[in-house]
Amino acid sequence: MLAPFKLERYFARYEFTTRYLLCASDAEAMPIRDLLALEPGAAERFDDVWLGYTESRGSPELREAIATLYPLTGADGVLVHAGTQEAIFTLLSVLAGTGDHVIAQFPAYQSQYAVVEASGAEVSRWHSDLTRDGAPDPDDLERLVRPSTRALIVTSPNNPTGFVFERERLDRTIEFARKHGLWLVSDEVYRGSEHDPLWRLPPVCDLYERGISLGGTAKSYGLAGLRIGWTVTGDAQLYERLASFKDYLTICNSAPSEFLATVGMRHGDELIERVQRIVTRNLDLLDAYFARHTGTWQWRRPRAGTTAFPRYVRGDTDRLCAELIENAGVLLLPSSVFDCGNDRVRIGYGRANLPDALAVMERYIDDL
Ligand SMILES: Cc1ncc(COP(=O)(O)O)c(C=O)c1O
Repeated sequence: MLAPFKLERYFARYEFTTRYLLCASDAEAMPIRDLLALEPGAAERFDDVWLGYTESRGSPELREAIATLYPLTGADGVLVHAGTQEAIFTLLSVLAGTGDHVIAQFPAYQSQYAVVEASGAEVSRWHSDLTRDGAPDPDDLERLVRPSTRALIVTSPNNPTGFVFERERLDRTIEFARKHGLWLVSDEVYRGSEHDPLWRLPPVCDLYERGISLGGTAKSYGLAGLRIGWTVTGDAQLYERLASFKDYLTICNSAPSEFLATVGMRHGDELIERVQRIVTRNLDLLDAYFARHTGTWQWRRPRAGTTAFPRYVRGDTDRLCAELIENAGVLLLPSSVFDCGNDRVRIGYGRANLPDALAVMERYIDDL
């Protein structure tokens, strides 16, 4: 049985009824018109998109556009899904079953461990050091591994912490996976959102023969409503197993979404720059806010992503978040939805209205 997805249930309750969303992990989106304007002739071609079934693994044009991010693996290794969420569900359902064991970086997006647990496998948590910048320690891995371990799951850049692996930490993680013959599942849906491009690492599928990279358009590119994500693997057998599993889910993707995602991914750098302009302005405002309130919050400016996970020193963020919704119309995510204590919140800083949302939150918390 799949456990309820706490974060998504929380959003289902409040996302579209609370005025100020200050915890979203997707970046500011755009209307279809602005996306099509990136490419001459795209608007006319969009009108001609054929509304039949599409190729199950994704259209060749879209896979080519995505594959520019995975130069060593290439388009044959790209399997397109309905969102990164479908990619995670498919991959983890295929990789682990009863009697297996998986190690997962923690905290994480819940599907990464809930899907594994629902399949009958056991999960061990590879904890991030939340007292510092959220780094997990590769030295811990040897203590977690078992003869039945099949895979190690990482998210870099991370949701919720914003931590991004340094090259040396990633190399040590790959070394460990190779030594034990593990699949290394790398959720890279926030790749491209490094606040300094120097932090951007090569994708894991290009670095390790059993490395699998997951990506999507929702976060770094600001196109969540397309519901397009992907898995990239150089392992042809695994690819076939994933494609067969997908036959029981969406079968193939929405034709309009695939067309729009192809335009988006062909102009990925422009989309990333647009999001980063919003993110940089917002992070400067958050830095200033937290500097004014060092007695209330413990904060570190993250190096990547669209989310941060600051500590509220008064604790009980379940209550804080409930009161903020009720009395100020501001939505934060309490750390309990990440199964991670009750003294942190996830803040999202990829949306354009952060200045207003932050000002309302500041006034409310000041008055407490
Ligand atoms: C780490 C991570 N992976 C996957 C997803 C799902 O992404 P998508 O919207 O592409 O399904 C999310 C969404 O928050 C996420 O944070």
